[in-house]
Amino acid sequence: MCGIIGSIGVKNAVPVLLKGLERLEYRGYDSAGICVVTNNSLVVIKKTGKVAELAAHSAISSLKDTTIGIAHTRWATHGKPSEENAHPHLDCKGEIAIVHNGIIENYHKLKNELEEKGHVFRSETDSEIVAHLIEYYYNGNLERAVIMALKKVEGAFGLAVMHKSEKSIVAARRGSPLVLGISDGAMFVASDVSALLDYTSRVIYLDDNEVATLTSKSYTIKTLEGNMIRSRAVQEIDWNIDKIEKRGYKHFMLKEILEQPISIEKVLQNRIINNRILLDIKIDINTLKRLYIVACGTSWHAALEGKYIIERIAGIPVEVDYASEFRYRNPLFIKGDAIIAISQSGETADTLAAIRLAKEKSLPIISIVNVVGSGIARNSDSVIYLNAGPEIGVASTKAFTAQIMALVLFALYIKQERNDIADNEILNSLKVINCSIKEVLKSREEIKKIADEIYASRDALYLGRGMQFPVALEGALKLKEISYIHAEGYPAAEMKHGPIALVEEGTPVIALAMEDVLHEKMISNIQEVKARKGKVIAITDSQSLRVSSLADRVIKVPKVLDILSPIVTSIPLQLLAYYAAVKRGIDVDKPRNLAKSVTVE
Ligand code: M6R
Repeated sequence: MCGIIGSIGVKNAVPVLLKGLERLEYRGYDSAGICVVTNNSLVVIKKTGKVAELAAHSAISSLKDTTIGIAHTRWATHGKPSEENAHPHLDCKGEIAIVHNGIIENYHKLKNELEEKGHVFRSETDSEIVAHLIEYYYNGNLERAVIMALKKVEGAFGLAVMHKSEKSIVAARRGSPLVLGISDGAMFVASDVSALLDYTSRVIYLDDNEVATLTSKSYTIKTLEGNMIRSRAVQEIDWNIDKIEKRGYKHFMLKEILEQPISIEKVLQNRIINNRILLDIKIDINTLKRLYIVACGTSWHAALEGKYIIERIAGIPVEVDYASEFRYRNPLFIKGDAIIAISQSGETADTLAAIRLAKEKSLPIISIVNVVGSGIARNSDSVIYLNAGPEIGVASTKAFTAQIMALVLFALYIKQERNDIADNEILNSLKVINCSIKEVLKSREEIKKIADEIYASRDALYLGRGMQFPVALEGALKLKEISYIHAEGYPAAEMKHGPIALVEEGTPVIALAMEDVLHEKMISNIQEVKARKGKVIAITDSQSLRVSSLADRVIKVPKVLDILSPIVTSIPLQLLAYYAAVKRGIDVDKPRNLAKSVTVE
């Protein structure tokens, strides 16, 4: 949801800023802009479209020997994608530039007040008011003006600010992520470490309501109250550039799908010793009576799987909520409740807000997060990191399967801690599930051919029962978000209560027909689709001919333990969506209207 990068101290800031924007582009890609100081003036260049279009702008090549700059890639919230609305935004005099990620909630009020004082606005954005507010308070000290301005602001911000005459960048955060990059003779600020890794692996995550002032050789961090923070640990990032490059793959999404045998293994690494699970959970498991899982999007689908997994393995009741609903529905808590927040990015605004609500109610919070040091992780009592490596493609893939692994691990941990029982059957299956994933990935070509048959469809239905129901939801989400084909996931038995009206000759109906207790019922549901001439694509582990004789196409997956089956059934659906979208000519890593992390409400 908008990417920010700032650089001070390197000999030429422009390539650093452009490279940073390229790395951050997954966060938003409807316009981009850059601001640098040359000859004691601010020069701003903006362009609608992707970062490559900004980089190709004729004015960019004329920017040389400029050591300070800030840049932004936008995902529009207030105001359409346009050059006026693209960041950086300037104050009236063109002396102060800002880039902002987040939402200024009281911007109407502030804008009216500033307009009454004579400020003239050039964009439709909420962000521009920050530049004018800083201008209003500026009297020769940028940091002080930023602090005074931000005291007036309600809402969320990740912010980088520069003044034409000050050799510094001031950065601040509340709600939207911001990380400082520390290097010898140069400092950086960015929305995410991936933008910094080309230059440094030493970073500091800013906390909410903190302001950092960077010069080429030093940094200070203060609270918005103006109190200096004397010691803040510098963290060493242990991923390298390789992990955030496509390495010859056409898309990050494909690379990330194919990485799953490894990412799955990483979830387990150092966490199972002699069949005992080691997790750093700082709550007394024996006091747990009920769990609420909160999440959004794909992570919410993993949460639905979590309900099956935890109730079945650990015997604790689980409620699952969309984080955005949870925060507004006044949930009734009882003693013994705890919250699990699931999020790949660890930044999703609704999920963060849901755990803040839980914190206010003094509930213990466990998060299952991929991005280390993210807001959700830092606001949790205990964190289970996925360790899946960076996920750059907008469509979440390897995070989903890793989340299910983490949920199984957590459920087994609860069982172990409460009853001192190790579930060796599940543990042993977990350890070899990567082999089954490798098997599934061998069907790539076959799945591609099926995608070629359905890519022009208007609608698609995904049907599953039990643990395959959330997989159906996830398959439908994957298809719609990257191919723009209307797709819906349903519990298969619900089909006859309405969605069957959508089935006509050739409508693709993806049926998850695993050989489990609901197999016979699923076969009946497939028959109902066939009776309406739908095109059934079955995902099955069944060896019998019943599914294959009914379905138009069959994608075979290996037999695994029932509780782990969503891991093997979700992958063919990721591939199906991927190949259908590619066939439709869509940029699958950056589909329209989306951004990788949704840091606004
Ligand atoms: O980073 P998170 O897991 O919290 O993100 C939640 C959703 O925004 C995310 O899963 C989204 O639905 C993806 N585009 C799905 O592919």
